[in-house]
Amino acid sequence: MSHQNVLILDFGGQYNQLIARRVRDLGVYCEIIPFRKATVEKIREYSPIGLIFTGGPNSVYAENAPQIDPAVLSMGVPVLGLCYGCQLIAHTLGGKVETAPAREFGKTATHFNTTSPLFTDLPEEATTWMSHVDYVGKLPEGFESIAHTDHCPVAAMQNLDKKIFGFQYHPEVEHTQNGSKMLRNFLYNVCGAVGDWSMKDYCNTAIAQVREKVGDGKVLLALSGGVDSSVVAKLLSKAIGNQLTCIFVDHGLMRKNEGDEIEAVFGNGDINFVRVNAEDRFLGKLAGVSEPEKKRKIIGEEFIRVFEEEAKKIGKVDFLAQGTIYADVVESGSGDAAVIKSHHNVGGLPDYVDFKEIIEPLRLLFKDEVRALGRELGLPDYLVNRQPFPGPGLAIRVIGEVTKEKLDVLRDADFIFRDEIAKAGLDKSVHQYFAVLTNMRSVGVMGDFRTYDYTLALRGVTTSDFMTADWARIPYEVLDKVSVRIVNEVDHINRICYDITSKPPATIEWE
Ligand code: XMP
Repeated sequence: MSHQNVLILDFGGQYNQLIARRVRDLGVYCEIIPFRKATVEKIREYSPIGLIFTGGPNSVYAENAPQIDPAVLSMGVPVLGLCYGCQLIAHTLGGKVETAPAREFGKTATHFNTTSPLFTDLPEEATTWMSHVDYVGKLPEGFESIAHTDHCPVAAMQNLDKKIFGFQYHPEVEHTQNGSKMLRNFLYNVCGAVGDWSMKDYCNTAIAQVREKVGDGKVLLALSGGVDSSVVAKLLSKAIGNQLTCIFVDHGLMRKNEGDEIEAVFGNGDINFVRVNAEDRFLGKLAGVSEPEKKRKIIGEEFIRVFEEEAKKIGKVDFLAQGTIYADVVESGSGDAAVIKSHHNVGGLPDYVDFKEIIEPLRLLFKDEVRALGRELGLPDYLVNRQPFPGPGLAIRVIGEVTKEKLDVLRDADFIFRDEIAKAGLDKSVHQYFAVLTNMRSVGVMGDFRTYDYTLALRGVTTSDFMTADWARIPYEVLDKVSVRIVNEVDHINRICYDITSKPPATIEWE
């Protein structure tokens, strides 16, 4: 693929992927690598037009603080350091980083020197997003301050000759006014970007690459109906048609009508599409099990078994396709995060299928880009915009033991909730929404009769990355409509609650 490249050196900051997404949104391809791997030789392999150093949690003086080979700063490649990245540049080049008595955090009024190419055509005063204790107290030789706040004399710095810049604030977060324009200025005014990264080009190139790699070989894909595997299926079907076989394991834990919708899109004869109706098998294995992690494990293992049996019927394939996306492969610059839940993606790597090689055509793409590619390929909106759906499906939204009856109750209630959210035009602003069938029953009254039925929980969240989330302020009128419809139209639910916890401390799913 011939396009310019920007390399993002990750120092463990929480916004590393956000920076990358901003850069790509500006039409410039970029990749993230951990700072430890960023040797001069490694950087040269990418032939980057620019480098961006991310923030990070450390102080440059801390023991084991991430460092950078000073030679990286004299490669002649323009550099922009953000927060820790800025301090590291100052520290590495002989400036002085100092610790402020108090942390500067949040929206901060900032004054800019607009003669800098990074602030061209921008106002002299604007709000930036700060999050630091340390700051650059003494500039390295050849540098000048190009922005300041009341508490921070060097909110931004530059060495124009060497094309090295640093921002103490975070231009990538939305709270920084004109942040995207500043990044754009760095890319286009300093690095010489031409904006050659577009989904249309990517799509054509990816199709050509798949054709070349696969030749007349056979490809197998586990299709879950989620955005990623659907886009892979569509891309491969365009590239290699019926050399592709998709196995869709219907575990009976999908939402209402979902299995049929997937079959309608992919089962039209362009590719070999196999739908395995394995509901009985999955429910059999889940019978009597109520512990969440155990349910997840059982489903993951059973999925592999079913997939394996079907794959065996096909015999040897040459390639196994996967919907791995960039967020899954970025290696963080800092340590490993704690495992909260054993996430399972239907389509996880089965190491038992007889194949030669793996193809992962989405490996370089962020989620928004995967959706854009799906649109480019002509997938229907409801597939491209599908909200995340956990691999174990509704089994983790039926609290406690999973039975067919409970699943059907949940499916009907969830369908009404989703329907009303869409009718109210909230399906874009509420990023994930679903119903949970709790394991609790309570007393109610219907007509003149006492009922003793299930309590349903509704969950709606807003989030940018699903790592943290806030509960969605769905208008009362919408919740009211949902509640009235569900208790009237769905048997065995007589009470409905709305989940008003954010993540953390709760998670998005209940199990
Ligand atoms: P939690 O519940 O951990 O969920 O806050 C974060 C996001 O991940 C989705 N999720 C899963 N996705 N396999 C997946 O592919 C899983 O096992 C799984 N569990 C949770 C969840 O829906 C939310 O979007």
